[in-house]
Parts: sequence; C-alpha cells; structure tokens
Amino acid sequence: MLSEELKISGSFTEEVINDRLSICRFESISCTSSFAEDITRGLKQVPKVLHPKYFYDNTGSELFEKICDTPEYYVTRTESSILEKYSDEMALMNKGKKVIVELGSGSSIKTRYILSSFIKSEGCITYLPIDVSEIMVQSSKELLSEFEGLNIRGINGEYEEGLEIINELTGDPKMIVFLGSSIGNFTPVEAKRLLSSISNTMSGDDSFLIGFDMVKDENVLNAAYDDSAGITAEFNLNILQRINTELGGTFDLSKFSHKAFFNKAMSRIEMHLVSGSNQTVYIDKLNEYVEFRKGETIHTENSYKFTDEMINDLAGSAGLNVNKTWKDDRNYFGLCLMSK
Ligand code: TRP
Repeated sequence: MLSEELKISGSFTEEVINDRLSICRFESISCTSSFAEDITRGLKQVPKVLHPKYFYDNTGSELFEKICDTPEYYVTRTESSILEKYSDEMALMNKGKKVIVELGSGSSIKTRYILSSFIKSEGCITYLPIDVSEIMVQSSKELLSEFEGLNIRGINGEYEEGLEIINELTGDPKMIVFLGSSIGNFTPVEAKRLLSSISNTMSGDDSFLIGFDMVKDENVLNAAYDDSAGITAEFNLNILQRINTELGGTFDLSKFSHKAFFNKAMSRIEMHLVSGSNQTVYIDKLNEYVEFRKGETIHTENSYKFTDEMINDLAGSAGLNVNKTWKDDRNYFGLCLMSK
C-alpha cells in the first residue's frame, strides 16, 4: 500500500482501497474487555451468563445466516418484505439525503432495497456501514459492482466507536439505519443509551430508520427461536465450542441443550443453555473449573419484542419522535422513521 493511501485522523486511519471505497479502522486498542475476561466473569455470576456478542465468530455468523433462512424465523423475511415494498416511499420522505449510515451492516442484504431507492431518488449517495466483522469489506466490494452512483466509506468497529466519528466523515444530511430488531438484543437501559448516542450524532435534518420485532402469538415467537432443524440450537451451543477452541475449554456439547422461550412479563425471548447433568468443566486458559448442577442454565441472549407504546417510550427517552411506521400485513414487524 502506498503511504498516501493511508489517511490518519485522530483516533482512526482510513485506508483508501479505490476511488469509491475506503475503510476506517480504529487506532487505539479498544478499552472494552476481552473474550477471556468476559467469559470468566459471566460463568462466575449467579445465574451464569455469556454475552451474545460472542456468538459471532465465523461459524456463528454462518449459522446466523442459516437461521434467517429457516421457515420459523420470520424476522428477516418480514423486514425484507417491508423494505421491498416501501423503500421508494422512505427515499421520498428523505429527499435530499445523500448519506446512509448503517449500524451492524453485516452482508448488507436488506440494505440493498434502501440503497437502490435512494440512488434512484438522489442520483449518487455515500454509504457508511459500521460493523465489527471483516465481512463488510467483501460485501462493500460487491455493492460497488452492483450499484453505480454509490461510494462507500466502511467503518470497521463497534457501534459507539463508529458513531463517534460519523460527523468527522460527513457534514451532509444523513439517514442512520439500524435493522433486524437488533435493538431488541440490548437491555432496556442499554437500548436507551444506544438510541441517545444515535440521537446525539443527529442534527435536525437527519433521520433514523430502525426495525422492531413486535409482540405476537407466543407459539410463533417460540418457534422462531427454536427451529425444528436445530440450527438455532447449534448457534447457541457454538458459544461453548468457541470457549473450547479459543480458551482450551472442555465443554462436552452433548451435555448441554438449547432452551428458548417467551418471557411475557419481560416481553422478551430468552435463550439459555441447560446443563444435562452435574458436571465440571475445566477452562485451561482461564485456569478455572466451572461447576454445573443438572438443569442449571447459562443465559446467553435476550430478544425483546415491542409494542407501539414501548417504541414510543424508547424513542421519547432518547429525544426522538416517531414520524412514520411501516408494518407488514400481519403486524409482525415495524420499521420506524424517527427524527429529533
Ligand atoms: N436481533 C435478531 C433477533 O433477536 C437476531 C438474533 C440475534 C437472533 N441473536 C439471535 C436470532 C439468536 C436467533 C437466535 O431475532
């Protein structure tokens, strides 16, 4: 790489890949704790917990894509169908915005509807995907070959890091996008904090498009997180495999099982791993023995389900207004356009 292709600005460097694509990476070692520290802490807690961000190694990311294709997991399909139907209207309501920022873009499959409608409406746009995964680099290259009129400045980092540098990268009116009901994987306190930092990066001209999975029939919800082919179970158990591979753990995956259910009082799906017997697991790199009682669980994830009222409360708590909500015919999923 030629040295002029690397622009260094404060906390991040921007690597110019070609005249339409650059990738920003962060300089400093992030102050968030490591996999080993989080696992140690989580397995000592009562009840035991593991942070869901550790689902997404390469295997986990592949399994997640497979979950999206299962007949029971309606979430991705439903959100896609809403975007397919209404993205032209979304572009119309955001006339004059040539910048799209996306949190957790992954492979940007659903975003294609948005990009396509905005390019049709604006001619030329800049897309700023924020993602921890390197998949973003490859999918950005694919997007460029699919869409003329698109420039991409990818941000390889955590949401909060990315949000902090957005206004250094652009002063133009923008729409921030957060799809997949990923907001539901945060606790209410964290969700409010994240929406507040999004709101803080927005000016009065900016907008925010966010997807929410709605409360619905419990059987539909439970099946979506426990598909009959067992892919969600594999996805959940993969976190133990990661501990074995990366930290020298001795988890016997056949002695744990996947459990997912809708906790109505908390309005969330909970995912757990249940120990099938009394057992001790050794984790070499942590130099720790972890004891499990038969039936004891590790809580691995929550996925909150929303009502219109919950959405309005959350938006309001972050200083945002809901301007418009698009839903599918069954009211399974809502996409809300918000502004300050
Ligand atoms: N945010 C989505 C949801 O809660 C995707 C997701 C995250 C998911 N973790 C998951 C889906 C575990 C299935 C299982 O639905």
